[in-house]
Amino acid sequence: MKTLEIAAKIVILNETELNNEQKNVLEAAKKATLRSYSPYSHFKVGAACLLDNGEIVEGSNQENAAYPSGLCAERTALFYAQSRYPEAKVRKLCIIGRNQTGEFTDAVCAPCGACRQVILESEYRSGGPIEILLPCREGIYVINGISTLLPFGFTYDEVTER
Ligand code: THU
Repeated sequence: MKTLEIAAKIVILNETELNNEQKNVLEAAKKATLRSYSPYSHFKVGAACLLDNGEIVEGSNQENAAYPSGLCAERTALFYAQSRYPEAKVRKLCIIGRNQTGEFTDAVCAPCGACRQVILESEYRSGGPIEILLPCREGIYVINGISTLLPFGFTYDEVTER
């Protein structure tokens, strides 16, 4: 028998330890929560991604009376970024949620499985890992690439393998 261990390293910074790019993307994600359309869950999520062309593109969760038709904040942001700037590479992505009383959540707002898969594709398009920032009460979780959250991800290479 063989065992394969998967190690995950997550750095937790406080706000004063963030660099300017990290601060800007965090502020943008916080602001984006205010544009959430979430009349069903009342859970407001904001996401912002920093591109290699310097642009910060924001998104918020967009819900629908037909529940599965809604979209998470981070997918909204990534899809918008990639449709507006198809050649740009995504470098950083921040996701933050507000609970039903409007406070930022104590725990991280971790991306759902479908979003992790979309982040993986964005990394593929971007040619490298995307730094993922997940703020919470404890600090800001800084994750260097989606493989930490999605080990053994299914990528383009597998689809095109012959
Ligand atoms: N949601 C996001 O936008 N991003 C996440 O990372 C987790 C969940 C949204 C989907 C739905 O509109 C609401 O939060 C409650 O699940």
